[in-house]
Amino acid sequence: MGVVGFCNCPTFCLTKSNSNLQIVGYTPRPSFSFEGNQRKIVAMASTIPVEQVNKGPQQLTCDFFIREHLRKLAPYQPILPFEVLSSRLGRKPEDIVKLDANENPYGPPPEVLEALGSIRFPYVYPDPESRRLRAALAQDSGLESDYILAGCGADELIDLIMRCVLDPGDKIVDCPPTFTMYEFDAAVNGAHVIKVPRKADFSLNVEHITEVVKQEKPKCIFLTSPNNPDGSIIDDEVLLKILDLPILVVLDEAYVEFSGIESRMTWVKKYENLIVLRTFSKRAGLAGLRVGYGAFPLSIIEYLWRAKQPYNVSVAAEISACAALQNPTYLENVKEALVKERERLYNLLNELPFLRPFPSHSNFILCEVASGMDAKKLKEDLAQMGVMIRHYNNKELSGYVRVSVGKPEQTDALMKCLRKFL
Ligand SMILES: Cc1ncc(COP(=O)(O)O)c(C=O)c1O
Repeated sequence: MGVVGFCNCPTFCLTKSNSNLQIVGYTPRPSFSFEGNQRKIVAMASTIPVEQVNKGPQQLTCDFFIREHLRKLAPYQPILPFEVLSSRLGRKPEDIVKLDANENPYGPPPEVLEALGSIRFPYVYPDPESRRLRAALAQDSGLESDYILAGCGADELIDLIMRCVLDPGDKIVDCPPTFTMYEFDAAVNGAHVIKVPRKADFSLNVEHITEVVKQEKPKCIFLTSPNNPDGSIIDDEVLLKILDLPILVVLDEAYVEFSGIESRMTWVKKYENLIVLRTFSKRAGLAGLRVGYGAFPLSIIEYLWRAKQPYNVSVAAEISACAALQNPTYLENVKEALVKERERLYNLLNELPFLRPFPSHSNFILCEVASGMDAKKLKEDLAQMGVMIRHYNNKELSGYVRVSVGKPEQTDALMKCLRKFL
């Protein structure tokens, strides 16, 4: 038996038999050093209660090493990949109407596939500063590239911000129902989430936010405009009131292109406590390539540069995003097609007696399932017919479904299935 380590923890001593790591039992935290001295370790082992020694060593399971707060973490529920879905439903991927994850069904402009097919140096690490992409984004947004940092999706940037800002035990404000990654990443980073639920019309409760900021002193607040899942937007007056509070405001604009309002990216030059996040997943149909970006005040961005993974944006992701920006006409046409289809889909859903759709500024529509129909069953029945939608059953949103806006033929397929419930 040899000691391989001593955990800084009062409960267990780790030992190694010939093959396995084992816990040998309860050991009070020692008041002397054990460094490299086997005899001393034997002395420590003698503090193990006799009955535990007699029971023999317990097998150590690897979760012993996991940080305490992560043991309680519920896993994030991602959507199923197309191939898995296809084998579960017994349908070819192209026969599935996928309206559950707000993806852009038109995909990227043709330039993207051409660029991906001609990558010259895939064996060389990508530019850690994503210089080409940030220059293209500066042109696209009107904000200088010094204020812009790219990431492996907006998702990575949400986590990166929290890693830079939050100490374990710090607080964030979350305004549910909203994108659940804020709550999830806060839990991963050991932060407390103070929930300030939205009002019945899904607008922000600014009075409650103000009170919470004053009393609880949270470090940051995550706001989403348009909000996922209801598609409501935050107007300037409300945003300015929140920016006036002593809190870092992270404004997630993942769907801003569909909203008809201007991005607030350039505001980061004026407001030292504002970060704006955006993504290529929705606007450019690049969800699978993983590329997002953020606008940051210069005083903050410096720390994100220091803390980020050096090669967070892959060669393929950067090339794709740059190629997509080269065809603004395509991006504009796709956006217009989706906005037009959103209005058609809204009207069609509104005709159904068992759905109450909410007006949306995004590429999805939230519906309350009414007339005694069960929302979960509706989702499951539609899935059996090859139509995927998102269902909600949490404290803030029970008995709701969210439908992404697709191509006209996808709307038609969805409506054909929904009419079977009449
Ligand atoms: C509000 C919101 N922010 C961010 C994201 C993630 O974006 P990305 O694909 O760039 O990680 C999503 C994805 O659905 C979202 O709904």
